[in-house]
Amino acid sequence: MKTVLVTGGLGFIGSHTAVELLGRGYRVVLADNLSNTRADVLDGIASIAGQRPTWANVDLADPVACRALLQGLGDLAGIVHFAAHKAVGESVQKPLAYYRNNFGSLVNLLDHLAERPACRLIFSSSCTVYGQADSLPIREDAPVKPAESPYGNTKQVGEEILRDGARAHGFRAIALRYFNPIGAHPTARIGELPLGVPQNLVPFITQSAAGLRGPLKVFGNDYPTRDGTCVRDYIHVVDVALAHVYALERLFAGKGADPVETFNLGTGAGSTVLEVIHAFERATGAKLQWEFAPRRPGDVVAAYADTQKAAAGLGWRAERTLDQCMADAWRWQQTLPGK
Ligand code: WQD
Repeated sequence: MKTVLVTGGLGFIGSHTAVELLGRGYRVVLADNLSNTRADVLDGIASIAGQRPTWANVDLADPVACRALLQGLGDLAGIVHFAAHKAVGESVQKPLAYYRNNFGSLVNLLDHLAERPACRLIFSSSCTVYGQADSLPIREDAPVKPAESPYGNTKQVGEEILRDGARAHGFRAIALRYFNPIGAHPTARIGELPLGVPQNLVPFITQSAAGLRGPLKVFGNDYPTRDGTCVRDYIHVVDVALAHVYALERLFAGKGADPVETFNLGTGAGSTVLEVIHAFERATGAKLQWEFAPRRPGDVVAAYADTQKAAAGLGWRAERTLDQCMADAWRWQQTLPGK
C-alpha cells in the first residue's frame, strides 16, 4: 500500500483529495497546522472515507519540523502539496509572510525529494499565473504574465523552484493550475470554510443566501463580456480532487517526458457572475439579494481553461455541472453553525 502525504490536508481541496485517495486504497497522512482551517474537518474526512487518516499538526515552513515529519514517514510514495497561504488581497498586505510560508514549505519538501527522488510531488498552482491571457481558452503553453499579487508570484516562482530542483536533483513533479474550485462534497460533511468575510464569489453567495451577509456585490457590469460581468471557469472541488489522484498515478507510472509537467484544471467552459447567480437560484430554489458595485482592482475580464492536455495526459475531465456545484455548496452551507 503506497503512503501519500497530503499537506494542507484539512483544507478545502486537501480534504476532498484525501477522501479520494483513501477511496483508492492509499495510506494517507495529513499535515496541517490549522492556520486556515479547523481540526474537525478530520471527522468529516473519516466519516466519508470510513477510516481516519493520521494527522500531523506541523508547520512545514519550519525545516526541522518538516524534516522530522518526513523522516518519520519512511518510504513515502508521494506528496500532494496544498499547504500555502492563498488569499490574494492578504498577500498584498503581508508579502513577506506569504513568501516565507509558501516558499519555505515548498523548499523544505523538495529537500526531501532531493534525498529521495523516487518520491513524487504534486504542486498546487493556479490559473493566476496566466493573468489576463491573450487568447481563450487558456492553454498551458500560454505565456505566464507578471504576477498581479504576491500570492500569484508564489505560484509562478513555485513552479520555477520545482523545475530548477528537478533539473538539479532528478526528481519528478506535476503542477496543477486550478481555475476556480467551488462546491462541496455531496455528503455535505466537508466543504469550504472561509475564515472571515469570504473574498471568493461562491462562499459569499451561500453565506448571503443563508442570511449571514448582506447582498452580494457584483464587482462590475461593464466588462466586454456577454452580460457585462466577469467570466471564470468554475470547477467542482471533487473533480479537482480526482485530478490530483490521476496526476499522482501518472507520476507513479513514470509517464511523461518532462520532469515537471503542468496541467490546467478547469471545465473548459466560462460562466459570468450573473450566470453563477442564476445557477445558484435555479439549483437551490433560494433567492439571492445582489447589487452591482464598482469593479474590483486586479480582476481579469475572462479566464477559462483549455482542457485537452489534462484529458490526454491525465485521462481526466471535469464531470460535475455548475448547478451541481451550487447545490452541493448550498447543502454544505446549511450544515454550518449560524447558517
Ligand atoms: C470570481 C468572480 C469577481 C466576489 C481567486 C484567486 C485565484 C483562486 C480563486 C486560489 C470575479 C466576482 C467575487 C464578490 C464578485 N484562488 N466577485 N463579488 O478572483 O477569479 O480567483 O480565487 O487559487 O487565485 O485570484 O475568484 O471568487 O474571488 O471571483 O462579483 O463578492 O466573482 O469580481 O469576477 P477569482 P473570486
